[in-house]
Amino acid sequence: MRLANKISIITGAGAGIGEGTATRFAEEGSKLVLTDISEADVNAVSKRLCAMGAQAVAVTGDISIEDDARRISETAIEHFGGIDILVNNAANFTTVSVEHATPEDWRRVLEVNVIGTGLVSKHAIPHIRKRGKGSIVNVSSTSALMAQPDFATYNTSKGAILSMTICMALDLAPSNIRVNSICPGCILTSATEREWLRMGITREQWIAEMAPQHMLNRVGDVREVANAILFLASDEASFITGTHLMVDGGRIAK
Ligand SMILES: NC(=O)c1ccc[n+]([C@@H]2O[C@H](COP(=O)([O-])OP(=O)(O)OC[C@H]3O[C@@H](n4cnc5c(N)ncnc54)[C@H](O)[C@@H]3O)[C@@H](O)[C@H]2O)c1
Repeated sequence: MRLANKISIITGAGAGIGEGTATRFAEEGSKLVLTDISEADVNAVSKRLCAMGAQAVAVTGDISIEDDARRISETAIEHFGGIDILVNNAANFTTVSVEHATPEDWRRVLEVNVIGTGLVSKHAIPHIRKRGKGSIVNVSSTSALMAQPDFATYNTSKGAILSMTICMALDLAPSNIRVNSICPGCILTSATEREWLRMGITREQWIAEMAPQHMLNRVGDVREVANAILFLASDEASFITGTHLMVDGGRIAK
């Protein structure tokens, strides 16, 4: 039980990598505050994990709204009495080139991915500090480090997560709070399903296009990302802060 007695917040826990991380954390004994903008999805995940024997509570909210961001930490305190781990995973997937992006495109993706990550962290940090140590894992992407056609808005937001991570790591080191990012490659989730539907291709066609971009010649599974988040969140990563871990099957190095 690598997270026994730990209390973790996971944003975007209603689907994909967030749901996979919630499941992995539950297996390792963490108490969970699960949050998502989709009430039905986050309630379903929470119910499923509680049926597995986990202690989980669901909070519905939009991380880009400060009152919602504050409510996530308040719920953790109310239910479990503290916060040890925060996984900033929720994201907006507005992908548009600079030439075609409207102010609303920019606002939404930056509000959720950058400001939302900042706001959830802001309200969790004082509580994590009180525990004497803690870990924050921000979910960035290989998209932060590469150019992709018509992805400028999203990739910019993911680049900002890497910058935010190193600044948070510096500011929070005196409080013994480690802050790191992970950069997944292509992972099969509801977000990638929306992507192949948007492209008008099948799941198999999308995989055939994406897999060869990775050295391992396949796309990833949410559990493979969840394992990396678990490592960074756990005490096994006690001397790791201010960095990013590629979980990308060799995509960036190829
Ligand atoms: N799937 C991939 O290939 C991939 C690759 C690299 C990075 N990522 C990153 O991994 C993370 C999870 O992605 P995913 O593929 O699991 O996506 P997903 O769409 O399957 O899940 C994201 C969850 O976030 C929630 N969410 C969206 N906006 C929100 C908001 N404003 N407030 C609260 N919750 C909100 C959604 O409702 C959804 O449940 C994201 O940060 C994404 O950028 C994904």
